[in-house]
Amino acid sequence: MKRTIKIFLSCMAACLFLTSCQGVRKEEEKTSIRIGISLYRGDDTFINNIRSIIEDKAKEYERESGIKVTLDIQEAKGNQNTQNNQVERFISLGCDVLCINPVDRMDTSLIIDKAMTANVPVVFFNRQPVEEDMNRWDKLYYVGVDAKETAILQGEMVVDLYREQPEAVDLNGDGVVSYVMLEGETSHQDSLIRTEWSVQTLKDGRVPIEKITGGIANWERSQASALMEQWLAEYPDTIELVISNNDDMALGAIDALERAQIVGVNVIGIDGTTPGLEALESGKLLGTVSANKEIYGSAVIKLAASCALGEEPPEEYPLTDGTYFWTPQEILITKIKENL
Ligand code: GAL
Repeated sequence: MKRTIKIFLSCMAACLFLTSCQGVRKEEEKTSIRIGISLYRGDDTFINNIRSIIEDKAKEYERESGIKVTLDIQEAKGNQNTQNNQVERFISLGCDVLCINPVDRMDTSLIIDKAMTANVPVVFFNRQPVEEDMNRWDKLYYVGVDAKETAILQGEMVVDLYREQPEAVDLNGDGVVSYVMLEGETSHQDSLIRTEWSVQTLKDGRVPIEKITGGIANWERSQASALMEQWLAEYPDTIELVISNNDDMALGAIDALERAQIVGVNVIGIDGTTPGLEALESGKLLGTVSANKEIYGSAVIKLAASCALGEEPPEEYPLTDGTYFWTPQEILITKIKENL
């Protein structure tokens, strides 16, 4: 009897050993990963630029690592409920990791609940969830840009130009630079910080500024164009500088200036989007601040892939507090104004 039990136990142990070995082998040999991506909106120019880079970087990663990457990309059309449902679907489809550009950055708790329950890590990007939510789990990450750094770079463009050629900024030579401010969504971390710090940088750089007016255009070209048209009518021959929280709104202001056949007003943006860079090339946009989109997209994909494979985060993208990757950014300024 004793012998039978012994044999039985050895068989059990052998089976367990084999199963666990298989488990390890399975983990080691993971040859494909599935990434669920949800964008807050599909018609946002900057987000679309980032989306294409993410797609390119996924292919690049696939080529380099030999691991097949399946991307499931959805657009939430500005609706948090839609995005929550997309997350649920990604999880039921067996996604190994989620990359989420939240609709409402203050309301990511449901997404986090679902991800934690299913043990699926999340890489948030561009719209930063509140710290309290990010601190709920060690498998939550964020890729974005430091909004204060962006704003300081944006302000510095004007400070430098003013120092070199004050007449290129103070167009009517009255000793004051009169500006208008175009702001993005009120609840977006980037709008609040960009607005505050670009102006602060101008003040710190001793550019004598005066705010004519400002308004919220929700990152949108058409909304900004309508606002600018209104301001040009309300404050004729007054506006010398347009500070915009992003390139699309800057382009809206340029549209309104062109319609009113006004030339010379300086317009500065942020993002370095494809249409933004075209406007820069043609000298319509004075300057922009651009995140390195190659690094941005790569960080999202490589971080996501490491999560999916259960590996440590990639060392080439150092994480602040083990959670946040801040993409480097640079000033791009039009050559035409540079050579004024
Ligand atoms: C900002 C960007 C805007 C818009 C927004 C969406 O960082 O500058 O153009 O894309 O994100 O969340």
